[in-house]
Amino acid sequence: MIQWLMHKDNKKFAIMQIPPCLVNEHYDDRYFDVVNAIEEAKQIFFQGTGLLEIFAAMGPGKKEFRIGETGFGAGRVLVSLMDFLGQSRFSDLSITYNSVELHPISAGRMASVLEGFRPQVGSLIDLLVSAYSKLDITRPGWHQLQFVLPFGSLILNLWIGEALEMVHALALPCDAWFLDGHGPKKNPSIWRPELLLAIGEKTGTRGTCATYTVAGAVRRGLIAAGFDIEQHPGYGGKKAVLRGIQRQCR
Ligand SMILES: C[S@@+](CC[C@H](N)C(=O)[O-])C[C@H]1O[C@@H](n2cnc3c(N)ncnc32)[C@H](O)[C@@H]1O
Repeated sequence: MIQWLMHKDNKKFAIMQIPPCLVNEHYDDRYFDVVNAIEEAKQIFFQGTGLLEIFAAMGPGKKEFRIGETGFGAGRVLVSLMDFLGQSRFSDLSITYNSVELHPISAGRMASVLEGFRPQVGSLIDLLVSAYSKLDITRPGWHQLQFVLPFGSLILNLWIGEALEMVHALALPCDAWFLDGHGPKKNPSIWRPELLLAIGEKTGTRGTCATYTVAGAVRRGLIAAGFDIEQHPGYGGKKAVLRGIQRQCR
């Protein structure tokens, strides 16, 4: 199967061939936008949650920071984060990255899905795929991988199962959330109010969230979960994005 996409990117039109492995068969949707998805993650999720500003405000010394992600997929956001932080001035970060995946893919498929980004982040793809290949993804619940990188350390806690289970299983609240679980039309379950409320409860005071969907139901769900929400211009194929800051004391 070959699919073709017309994509508007910075006023240029590009015709991209979409490898079949990029389509998540459970939701009939791509894991991510094929055009510049690494940069897109940086703009939408890392700038959207204000990571660098938050780290800078932490002052000198070790900076512990917990991230939550809904939808691990092929790990594109994680690879992008490793690249983004590797290019920052920080060397003392201690990142805990909590993510969840209901339909885990094999390490081989992960490598195929990420293949297009090899020129940019090939060594990070190899690092993640090699570590991920050692996990028993048929076993539900927590799985852990640890990485030592130029910016500090990163622990991946990956929950194999349903997103709400993962949020309930978090012992500590997250400082930032990347909401990346397919669009609400294709996958309303990952945007349901019950889950967004649980995410709000597992967010530290002034914690942040970001997502590429500006759907009214998502906005209302995040506001109900305690976030002050703002709409900002999008990037690449996304016209607009949402950014949130947790206003409730936790
Ligand atoms: C858009 S993709 C994620 C892309 C991923 N962040 C990446 O960069 O590769 C969304 C992912 O969420 C997973 N997912 C969807 N609904 C879920 C749920 N209710 N619980 C856990 N994972 C879910 C899908 O299987 C899919 O892999």
